[in-house]
Amino acid sequence: MCFLQKTMDELPQLKIGFIGAGNMAYGIAKGILTPGDVVASNVTVSAPSKNNFARFEKMGVTLTHSNEEVVQTSRLVFLAVKPHLIPAVLKAVSAHVTPQHVVVSVAAGVTLATLEGLLPGGSCVMRLMPNLPCMLQEGALVLARGTGCTQEVASQLKDLLSPCGLVEVGPESWIDAHTGLSGSGVAFVYVFAEALAEGAVKMGMPSVLAQRIAAQTILGAGHLLRDGEKHPAQLKAEVCTPGGTTVYGLHALEKGGLRAAVVDAVEAATQRARELGGAKRVEETR
Ligand SMILES: NC(=O)c1ccc[n+]([C@@H]2O[C@H](COP(=O)([O-])OP(=O)(O)OC[C@H]3O[C@@H](n4cnc5c(N)ncnc54)[C@H](OP(=O)(O)O)[C@@H]3O)[C@@H](O)[C@H]2O)c1
Repeated sequence: MCFLQKTMDELPQLKIGFIGAGNMAYGIAKGILTPGDVVASNVTVSAPSKNNFARFEKMGVTLTHSNEEVVQTSRLVFLAVKPHLIPAVLKAVSAHVTPQHVVVSVAAGVTLATLEGLLPGGSCVMRLMPNLPCMLQEGALVLARGTGCTQEVASQLKDLLSPCGLVEVGPESWIDAHTGLSGSGVAFVYVFAEALAEGAVKMGMPSVLAQRIAAQTILGAGHLLRDGEKHPAQLKAEVCTPGGTTVYGLHALEKGGLRAAVVDAVEAATQRARELGGAKRVEETR
Protein backbone atom coordinates (compact mmCIF):
# COMPACT_ATOMS: atom_id res chain seq x y z
CA MET A 1 0.00 0.00 0.00
CA CYS A 2 1.30 3.42 -0.95
CA PHE A 3 1.55 6.15 1.68
CA LEU A 4 2.94 9.61 1.10
CA GLN A 5 4.27 9.55 4.63
CA LYS A 6 3.36 7.31 7.54
CA THR A 7 3.50 10.08 10.14
CA MET A 8 3.72 13.88 10.01
CA ASP A 9 7.32 13.52 11.30
CA GLU A 10 8.25 12.09 7.90
CA LEU A 11 7.18 15.20 5.97
CA PRO A 12 10.69 16.73 5.93
CA GLN A 13 11.91 13.63 4.08
CA LEU A 14 9.08 13.70 1.51
CA LYS A 15 10.48 14.21 -2.00
CA ILE A 16 8.10 16.16 -4.24
CA GLY A 17 8.43 16.81 -7.96
CA PHE A 18 6.74 19.07 -10.49
CA ILE A 19 6.84 18.37 -14.22
CA GLY A 20 6.15 21.84 -15.60
CA ALA A 21 7.15 25.15 -14.00
CA GLY A 22 4.14 27.31 -14.88
CA ASN A 23 1.59 29.16 -12.78
CA MET A 24 -0.10 26.08 -11.34
CA ALA A 25 3.17 24.39 -10.36
CA TYR A 26 4.28 27.64 -8.72
CA GLY A 27 1.03 28.14 -6.77
CA ILE A 28 0.96 24.54 -5.51
CA ALA A 29 4.70 24.48 -4.64
CA LYS A 30 4.39 27.77 -2.77
CA GLY A 31 1.40 26.46 -0.80
CA ILE A 32 3.11 23.17 0.09
CA LEU A 33 6.27 24.97 1.26
CA THR A 34 4.47 27.69 3.25
CA PRO A 35 4.01 25.81 6.56
CA GLY A 36 7.75 24.93 6.57
CA ASP A 37 7.34 21.14 7.09
CA VAL A 38 8.51 20.21 3.57
CA VAL A 39 12.17 20.95 2.83
CA ALA A 40 12.58 23.17 -0.27
CA SER A 41 15.65 21.29 -1.53
CA ASN A 42 13.53 18.09 -1.55
CA VAL A 43 11.29 19.67 -4.19
CA THR A 44 12.40 19.23 -7.81
CA VAL A 45 10.86 21.17 -10.70
CA SER A 46 11.41 20.53 -14.42
CA ALA A 47 10.72 22.51 -17.58
CA PRO A 48 12.33 22.55 -21.04
CA SER A 49 13.44 26.20 -20.74
CA LYS A 50 14.59 28.48 -17.91
CA ASN A 51 11.81 30.98 -18.69
CA ASN A 52 9.87 30.26 -15.49
CA PHE A 53 12.76 29.23 -13.21
CA ALA A 54 13.44 32.59 -11.49
CA ARG A 55 10.54 32.50 -9.02
CA PHE A 56 11.30 28.84 -8.16
CA GLU A 57 14.97 29.73 -7.57
CA LYS A 58 13.81 32.16 -4.88
CA MET A 59 12.01 29.28 -3.14
CA GLY A 60 15.23 27.25 -2.97
CA VAL A 61 13.87 24.24 -4.85
CA THR A 62 15.96 22.03 -7.16
CA LEU A 63 15.58 22.87 -10.86
CA THR A 64 16.21 20.62 -13.86
CA HIS A 65 15.39 20.24 -17.55
CA SER A 66 14.90 16.48 -17.08
CA ASN A 67 11.41 15.09 -16.37
CA GLU A 68 12.99 11.67 -15.76
CA GLU A 69 15.07 13.20 -12.95
CA VAL A 70 11.90 14.54 -11.32
CA VAL A 71 10.30 11.09 -11.31
CA GLN A 72 13.48 9.34 -10.19
CA THR A 73 14.07 11.71 -7.26
CA SER A 74 10.45 12.25 -6.12
CA ARG A 75 7.81 10.17 -4.40
CA LEU A 76 4.95 12.58 -5.12
CA VAL A 77 4.92 13.90 -8.71
CA PHE A 78 2.66 16.70 -9.94
CA LEU A 79 2.02 16.82 -13.69
CA ALA A 80 1.63 20.54 -14.39
CA VAL A 81 2.01 20.79 -18.16
CA LYS A 82 -0.65 21.72 -20.71
CA PRO A 83 -3.16 18.90 -21.28
CA HIS A 84 -2.07 18.08 -24.85
CA LEU A 85 1.49 17.33 -23.60
CA ILE A 86 0.43 14.75 -20.99
CA PRO A 87 0.59 11.65 -23.27
CA ALA A 88 4.11 12.42 -24.55
CA VAL A 89 5.41 13.42 -21.10
CA LEU A 90 4.00 10.28 -19.42
CA LYS A 91 5.20 7.93 -22.15
CA ALA A 92 8.73 9.29 -21.65
CA VAL A 93 8.77 8.87 -17.83
CA SER A 94 6.45 5.88 -17.40
CA ALA A 95 9.31 3.36 -17.11
CA HIS A 96 10.53 5.14 -13.95
CA VAL A 97 7.13 5.14 -12.20
CA THR A 98 6.99 2.57 -9.38
CA PRO A 99 4.23 1.43 -6.99
CA GLN A 100 5.71 3.86 -4.41
CA HIS A 101 4.92 6.91 -6.59
CA VAL A 102 1.86 9.09 -6.25
CA VAL A 103 1.19 10.88 -9.55
CA VAL A 104 -1.12 13.91 -9.45
CA SER A 105 -2.26 15.55 -12.67
CA VAL A 106 -3.63 19.10 -12.77
CA ALA A 107 -4.26 18.95 -16.53
CA ALA A 108 -7.80 20.04 -17.39
CA GLY A 109 -9.87 17.43 -19.19
CA VAL A 110 -7.37 14.54 -18.96
CA THR A 111 -9.28 11.75 -17.25
CA LEU A 112 -8.07 9.28 -14.62
CA ALA A 113 -8.66 6.46 -17.12
CA THR A 114 -6.38 8.18 -19.65
CA LEU A 115 -3.69 8.81 -17.02
CA GLU A 116 -3.88 5.23 -15.73
CA GLY A 117 -3.65 3.93 -19.30
CA LEU A 118 -0.39 5.84 -19.81
CA LEU A 119 1.25 4.55 -16.60
CA PRO A 120 2.18 1.07 -15.33
CA GLY A 121 -0.83 -0.99 -14.14
CA GLY A 122 -1.89 -0.28 -10.54
CA SER A 123 -0.16 3.12 -10.39
CA CYS A 124 -1.46 5.54 -7.76
CA VAL A 125 -2.89 8.38 -9.84
CA MET A 126 -4.97 11.40 -8.85
CA ARG A 127 -6.54 14.36 -10.59
CA LEU A 128 -6.37 17.74 -8.97
CA MET A 129 -8.31 20.72 -10.28
CA PRO A 130 -6.97 23.98 -8.88
CA ASN A 131 -7.98 27.49 -9.87
CA LEU A 132 -6.00 30.68 -10.46
CA PRO A 133 -6.18 32.09 -6.88
CA CYS A 134 -4.06 29.04 -5.90
CA MET A 135 -1.19 31.39 -6.79
CA LEU A 136 -2.10 33.40 -3.67
CA GLN A 137 -2.98 30.42 -1.46
CA GLU A 138 -6.66 31.37 -1.86
CA GLY A 139 -7.51 28.59 -4.30
CA ALA A 140 -10.43 26.19 -4.46
CA LEU A 141 -9.19 22.69 -5.31
CA VAL A 142 -10.96 19.38 -5.95
CA LEU A 143 -9.09 16.09 -5.78
CA ALA A 144 -10.26 12.76 -7.28
CA ARG A 145 -8.40 9.49 -6.81
CA GLY A 146 -7.84 6.73 -9.33
CA THR A 147 -8.40 3.02 -8.76
CA GLY A 148 -4.80 2.47 -7.56
CA CYS A 149 -4.95 5.17 -4.87
CA THR A 150 -6.22 4.66 -1.35
CA GLN A 151 -8.43 7.04 0.61
CA GLU A 152 -5.52 7.49 3.06
CA VAL A 153 -3.26 8.85 0.31
CA ALA A 154 -6.03 11.19 -0.90
CA SER A 155 -6.51 12.45 2.62
CA GLN A 156 -2.75 12.94 3.16
CA LEU A 157 -2.57 14.87 -0.09
CA LYS A 158 -5.55 16.97 0.97
CA ASP A 159 -3.71 17.90 4.18
CA LEU A 160 -0.49 18.67 2.28
CA LEU A 161 -2.38 20.93 -0.16
CA SER A 162 -4.50 22.70 2.45
CA PRO A 163 -2.24 25.81 2.52
CA CYS A 164 -3.21 26.33 -1.17
CA GLY A 165 -6.80 27.10 -0.14
CA LEU A 166 -9.98 25.04 0.20
CA VAL A 167 -9.32 21.40 -0.80
CA GLU A 168 -12.11 18.86 -1.25
CA VAL A 169 -11.86 15.18 -2.21
CA GLY A 170 -14.63 13.70 -4.35
CA PRO A 171 -15.56 11.56 -7.33
CA GLU A 172 -14.06 12.39 -10.71
CA SER A 173 -17.43 13.70 -11.95
CA TRP A 174 -16.99 16.66 -9.58
CA ILE A 175 -13.84 17.74 -11.40
CA ASP A 176 -15.69 19.01 -14.49
CA ALA A 177 -18.39 20.71 -12.37
CA HIS A 178 -15.61 22.31 -10.31
CA THR A 179 -13.97 23.51 -13.52
CA GLY A 180 -17.27 25.26 -14.44
CA LEU A 181 -17.91 26.58 -10.93
CA SER A 182 -14.45 27.62 -9.86
CA GLY A 183 -11.84 27.31 -12.63
CA SER A 184 -13.99 29.28 -15.07
CA GLY A 185 -15.96 30.87 -12.22
CA VAL A 186 -12.99 33.13 -11.48
CA ALA A 187 -13.57 34.78 -14.89
CA PHE A 188 -17.32 35.05 -14.23
CA VAL A 189 -16.57 36.93 -11.02
CA TYR A 190 -14.26 39.29 -12.95
CA VAL A 191 -17.11 40.10 -15.35
CA PHE A 192 -19.32 40.87 -12.35
CA ALA A 193 -16.57 43.05 -10.83
CA GLU A 194 -16.19 44.93 -14.11
CA ALA A 195 -19.95 45.50 -14.34
CA LEU A 196 -20.20 46.67 -10.70
CA ALA A 197 -17.44 49.21 -11.30
CA GLU A 198 -18.99 50.34 -14.61
CA GLY A 199 -22.24 51.01 -12.77
CA ALA A 200 -20.41 53.27 -10.31
CA VAL A 201 -18.55 55.03 -13.14
CA LYS A 202 -21.92 55.68 -14.80
CA MET A 203 -23.03 57.25 -11.54
CA GLY A 204 -19.96 59.53 -11.53
CA MET A 205 -17.25 57.69 -9.57
CA PRO A 206 -13.67 57.68 -10.98
CA SER A 207 -12.93 54.35 -12.71
CA VAL A 208 -9.82 53.33 -10.71
CA LEU A 209 -11.58 53.94 -7.41
CA ALA A 210 -14.69 52.07 -8.63
CA GLN A 211 -12.56 49.03 -9.54
CA ARG A 212 -10.80 49.00 -6.16
CA ILE A 213 -14.10 49.26 -4.31
CA ALA A 214 -15.66 46.55 -6.50
CA ALA A 215 -12.71 44.22 -5.72
CA GLN A 216 -12.95 44.92 -1.98
CA THR A 217 -16.74 44.40 -2.07
CA ILE A 218 -16.32 40.96 -3.67
CA LEU A 219 -13.52 40.07 -1.27
CA GLY A 220 -15.46 41.14 1.83
CA ALA A 221 -18.68 39.46 0.69
CA GLY A 222 -16.68 36.30 -0.10
CA HIS A 223 -15.07 36.23 3.36
CA LEU A 224 -18.45 36.64 5.05
CA LEU A 225 -19.90 33.81 2.95
CA ARG A 226 -16.92 31.46 3.38
CA ASP A 227 -16.22 32.05 7.05
CA GLY A 228 -19.80 32.25 8.34
CA GLU A 229 -22.45 29.57 8.60
CA LYS A 230 -25.04 31.44 6.58
CA HIS A 231 -26.58 30.59 3.21
CA PRO A 232 -26.11 33.33 0.57
CA ALA A 233 -29.88 33.94 0.52
CA GLN A 234 -29.79 34.70 4.27
CA LEU A 235 -26.84 37.08 3.92
CA LYS A 236 -28.63 38.78 1.02
CA ALA A 237 -31.82 39.19 3.09
CA GLU A 238 -29.78 40.83 5.87
CA VAL A 239 -28.67 43.58 3.44
CA CYS A 240 -32.23 44.25 2.26
CA THR A 241 -34.02 46.95 4.25
CA PRO A 242 -37.72 46.90 3.30
CA GLY A 243 -38.22 49.56 0.63
CA GLY A 244 -34.47 50.29 0.66
CA THR A 245 -31.78 50.57 -2.00
CA THR A 246 -30.64 46.93 -2.17
CA VAL A 247 -34.02 45.38 -2.85
CA TYR A 248 -34.53 47.86 -5.70
CA GLY A 249 -31.11 46.88 -7.12
CA LEU A 250 -31.79 43.16 -6.69
CA HIS A 251 -35.09 43.53 -8.58
CA ALA A 252 -33.11 45.09 -11.45
CA LEU A 253 -30.64 42.15 -11.39
CA GLU A 254 -33.47 39.60 -11.51
CA LYS A 255 -35.16 41.49 -14.39
CA GLY A 256 -31.80 41.36 -16.22
CA GLY A 257 -31.66 37.57 -15.77
CA LEU A 258 -28.38 37.49 -13.80
CA ARG A 259 -29.26 34.31 -11.89
CA ALA A 260 -30.22 32.30 -14.98
CA ALA A 261 -27.21 33.63 -16.90
CA VAL A 262 -24.83 32.49 -14.13
CA VAL A 263 -26.42 29.02 -13.91
CA ASP A 264 -26.12 28.78 -17.73
CA ALA A 265 -22.47 29.88 -17.58
CA VAL A 266 -21.50 27.18 -15.04
CA GLU A 267 -23.44 24.58 -17.04
CA ALA A 268 -21.83 25.62 -20.35
CA ALA A 269 -18.31 25.59 -18.89
CA THR A 270 -18.89 22.18 -17.24
CA GLN A 271 -20.24 20.76 -20.51
CA ARG A 272 -17.22 22.12 -22.37
CA ALA A 273 -14.84 20.50 -19.83
CA ARG A 274 -16.67 17.18 -20.37
CA GLU A 275 -16.43 17.57 -24.17
CA LEU A 276 -12.71 18.36 -24.00
CA GLY A 277 -12.08 15.27 -21.81
CA GLY A 278 -14.08 13.12 -24.25
CA ALA A 279 -12.36 14.62 -27.30
CA LYS A 280 -8.95 13.81 -25.78
CA ARG A 281 -9.98 10.24 -25.08
CA VAL A 282 -11.07 9.82 -28.71
CA GLU A 283 -7.85 11.42 -30.06
CA GLU A 284 -5.70 9.10 -27.95
CA THR A 285 -7.45 5.95 -29.16
CA ARG A 286 -6.80 6.84 -32.82
N1 LIG B 1 -4.06 28.26 -15.14
C1 LIG B 1 -5.19 27.84 -14.55
O1 LIG B 1 -6.03 28.60 -14.07
C2 LIG B 1 -5.43 26.35 -14.44
C3 LIG B 1 -6.51 25.88 -13.63
C4 LIG B 1 -6.68 24.51 -13.51
C5 LIG B 1 -5.85 23.62 -14.16
N2 LIG B 1 -4.84 24.11 -14.95
C6 LIG B 1 -3.99 23.12 -15.63
O2 LIG B 1 -2.66 23.27 -15.14
C7 LIG B 1 -1.75 22.84 -16.16
C8 LIG B 1 -0.63 23.86 -16.23
O3 LIG B 1 -1.20 25.11 -16.51
P1 LIG B 1 -0.39 26.44 -16.26
O4 LIG B 1 -1.38 27.55 -16.34
O5 LIG B 1 0.46 26.30 -15.05
O6 LIG B 1 0.52 26.42 -17.57
P2 LIG B 1 1.78 27.33 -17.94
O7 LIG B 1 1.89 28.47 -16.99
O8 LIG B 1 1.70 27.59 -19.40
O9 LIG B 1 3.03 26.35 -17.66
C9 LIG B 1 3.29 25.19 -18.40
C10 LIG B 1 4.67 24.68 -17.99
O10 LIG B 1 4.89 23.44 -18.66
C11 LIG B 1 6.25 23.46 -19.11
N3 LIG B 1 6.44 22.47 -20.16
C12 LIG B 1 6.15 22.56 -21.49
N4 LIG B 1 6.51 21.41 -22.10
C13 LIG B 1 7.03 20.59 -21.15
C14 LIG B 1 7.59 19.29 -21.16
N5 LIG B 1 7.65 18.55 -22.27
N6 LIG B 1 8.06 18.78 -20.02
C15 LIG B 1 8.01 19.50 -18.86
N7 LIG B 1 7.49 20.73 -18.78
C16 LIG B 1 7.00 21.27 -19.92
C17 LIG B 1 6.48 24.87 -19.55
O11 LIG B 1 7.85 25.07 -19.70
P3 LIG B 1 8.57 26.50 -19.94
O12 LIG B 1 8.65 27.11 -18.57
O13 LIG B 1 9.88 26.10 -20.49
O14 LIG B 1 7.69 27.26 -20.88
C18 LIG B 1 5.82 25.62 -18.39
O15 LIG B 1 6.73 25.73 -17.31
C19 LIG B 1 -2.55 22.71 -17.46
O16 LIG B 1 -2.68 21.35 -17.78
C20 LIG B 1 -3.89 23.32 -17.14
O17 LIG B 1 -4.94 22.61 -17.79
C21 LIG B 1 -4.61 25.43 -15.08
